[in-house]
Amino acid sequence: MADKKAQLVIEGAAPVELPILTGTVGPDVIDVRGLGATGHFTFDPGFMATASCESKITYIDGDKGVLLHRGYPIEQLAEKSDYLETCYLLLNGELPNAEQKAQFVSTVKNHTMVHEQLKSFFNGFRRDAHPMAVMCGVVGALSAFYHDSLDINNPQHREISAVRLVAKMPTLAAMVYKYSMGQPMMYPRNDLSYAENFLHMMFNTPCEIKPISPVLAKAMDRIFILHADHEQNASTSTVRLAGSSGANPFACIAAGIAALWGPAHGGANEAVLTMLDEIGDVSNIDKYIAKAKDKNDPFKLMGFGHRVYKNRDPRATVMKKTCDEVLGELGIKNDPQLELAMRLEEIALTDPYFIERSLYPNVDFYSGIILKAIGIPTSMFTVIFALARTVGWISHWKEMLSSPYKIGRPRQLYTGELQRDIVELKDRK
Ligand code: CMC
Repeated sequence: MADKKAQLVIEGAAPVELPILTGTVGPDVIDVRGLGATGHFTFDPGFMATASCESKITYIDGDKGVLLHRGYPIEQLAEKSDYLETCYLLLNGELPNAEQKAQFVSTVKNHTMVHEQLKSFFNGFRRDAHPMAVMCGVVGALSAFYHDSLDINNPQHREISAVRLVAKMPTLAAMVYKYSMGQPMMYPRNDLSYAENFLHMMFNTPCEIKPISPVLAKAMDRIFILHADHEQNASTSTVRLAGSSGANPFACIAAGIAALWGPAHGGANEAVLTMLDEIGDVSNIDKYIAKAKDKNDPFKLMGFGHRVYKNRDPRATVMKKTCDEVLGELGIKNDPQLELAMRLEEIALTDPYFIERSLYPNVDFYSGIILKAIGIPTSMFTVIFALARTVGWISHWKEMLSSPYKIGRPRQLYTGELQRDIVELKDRK
């Protein structure tokens, strides 16, 4: 794995040889672990040129717009697989055979309910709290309810926690929604598929159980697949970092949810709809494009750009197709917000500012439009992302704990004060 070497010449010191590591695909990486011994560290805020770990789960080629989970292209998974199968793949490395799939689905269904006492936990929150704020709290609280699977050094405990998280996230997400609406929380129904059950818990009430549209359930399932994992993004790196200290899985996932919430990451799907509302009409697009280009204006076109993709986000392509299907099924034609979004995309894609910077629509640009059409309120969009991404987070957490690892502890370039003595309060100016 380390045939080539890089040589680093530091003025006044002997050259340092650094091994170059080669993955199965993708750029080689220079192994700088030995550098600390020379009294130097690397400086890379924002991890622009740093691989934080070795992983076998997901591969992205940002220049070509490729996304593979365990080697399988996202387009094929979205077309030929389903979310629970994709979960099995991410967690175990291979797609399940029929027997393994039936067993996995049954195990997940076995864990869909949450501890009855967890319900009372919700009462501590204001009903108008942001659903992501409640999610951070209730997912973290799972560690107070499921003590029996918290030994991170026990592979069986790790397995049970992983299944519990995948199984309980839809239940918790729907509970958050029902609480915000002041409606009774719905128990999961294990005769339904994962996506159908989520829609049932979201939209049905004890006094009215309506059948779930198969097209909407399929679209929901596809949204889950498209968000399932995305290698070492901010929230996944947060989960790994939290996990590296030995924190329990529920606490680590709560940390991931908090990191996901930001508008530069998962919060972008909500921000896209807020932005479309703010733009209001096609006649205002030019004004907002100008704002996005203005360096003195913090406004950015939400749902555009990506740290890794410098080509189309492959998830956005599948999402757009799903968007057309859902709007067709619901008979939504001439939706003004969709029209606005399409026009915005068209203008941005032909504008030299966006072309030069390779700013394409990302997954969040279309997901919000579909979620809104399904009837999911804007404030729940990032919760849906968190629900779907939980399997990715937990797969990375498990991968890290399954081999030797070190606590994540970056260094810094210190530019603060030198050592100085405290001046008595009476003598301070
Ligand atoms: N609108 C206008 N200008 C932009 C945008 C945008 N959405 N995104 C990047 N730029 C400009 C940026 O100002 C910079 O210009 P310059 O080179 O003149 O200084 C250049 O493009 C490079 O951008 P960057 O901010 O250095 O890129 P980054 O890799 O640090 O940030 C990003 C990536 C996703 C945070 C950023 O593109 C962004 O804030 N986009 C909007 C939020 C969004 O849609 N986020 C969802 C990402 S996909 C879902 C997920 O994985 O979470």
